[in-house]
Amino acid sequence: MRESTLYLVPPKQLHVAILMDGNGRWAAARGLPRSAGHRAGVEAVRRAVHAAPSLGIGTLTLFAFSSSNWQRDPQEVGALFGLLEKFFFSEAFRAQEHDVRISAIGRRDRLPSTLLSAIEAAETATAQNDGLDLRIAVDYSAREAMLRTACWMISSTEVTQREFSRRLAEVTHSPAESSDVDLLIRTGGEQRLSDFLLWECAYAELHFTDRMWPDFTSADLELAIRDFHARDRRFGAAPAALANVTAS
Ligand code: IPE
Ligand code: IPE
Ligand code: MG
Repeated sequence: MRESTLYLVPPKQLHVAILMDGNGRWAAARGLPRSAGHRAGVEAVRRAVHAAPSLGIGTLTLFAFSSSNWQRDPQEVGALFGLLEKFFFSEAFRAQEHDVRISAIGRRDRLPSTLLSAIEAAETATAQNDGLDLRIAVDYSAREAMLRTACWMISSTEVTQREFSRRLAEVTHSPAESSDVDLLIRTGGEQRLSDFLLWECAYAELHFTDRMWPDFTSADLELAIRDFHARDRRFGAAPAALANVTAS
C-alpha cells in the first residue's frame, strides 16, 4: 500500500473587530451614571476575550475610545481611562495564563502617563504569547491614521497595499501589521462605522445588533460568528454557485 502523507492545514483564524456601543444607554435605562455602564462593559470585554479562541478568533480588535470621544465630559473621559488602566494591568496578569497577547492601537501622545504605563507594561509582559491577539483601540481614528500614513508616503512614487498596511500599523503603534477584518460587530443598535478600521474593513462582513454592550454575552458572539460563516464572501468574484453556468 502506498504511504500517504497527511497535511494538516490549520483553519484560518478570524479577525473580529467589535465596536462596543451602548454603555451609556445601558446605564441610563437603570438610572445609573454613564460610568457604571462603562464598568459593566469591562465585564462584557472579559467574556468576549474568554470566548474568542474557541470560536476560531485569532485577532480581536475592540474599540474602547475613539479620538472623537474627547468631546465628552472630562469626568466621563477620566472614568473611562481609569477603567482602561485597571484593565491593562489586570488583563496582563490573566493574559499570561491564557496565552493572550495584548496591545493598544491609536495615538499615545495624548493619554495620561499612568494609562500609558499600564499599556506598555501589558504589551511587554504579553509580547511573547501567541494565542489570541487582543488589540484595544484607544484614542483611535482610522481617518487620522490613514491621513498620517498618506503624508508619510507622499514622497514615494509607488506604494503597494501591503506597504500601506505596514505603515498604517506603525502610525497606530500596532506591534504587528494590521490584518483585514473578517467580521465587524457593532452593538447598541446604531449601524455606522464611526471611524473604526476603515482601511481594514474593506471586505469585512458587518453584523449589527441591538444588544447594548454590557449585555453582550459569549452566546451573542457565537451567534455573530455563525452568521458570519453562513455568508458568501466573494471579494468581487462571481458567486461560486453561478460560476460554472456563466463562465462559458
Ligand atoms: C460605548 O458606549 C463606549 C464608548 C464610546 C467609550 P457609549 O458610551 O457610546 O454608550 P451610548 O452609545 O451613549 O449608549
Ligand atoms: C464609537 O462609539 C466609539 C466606541 C465604541 C469607542 P460612539 O458612541 O462614540 O459613536 P457614535 O457617536 O455613535 O458615532
Ligand atoms: Mg455610543
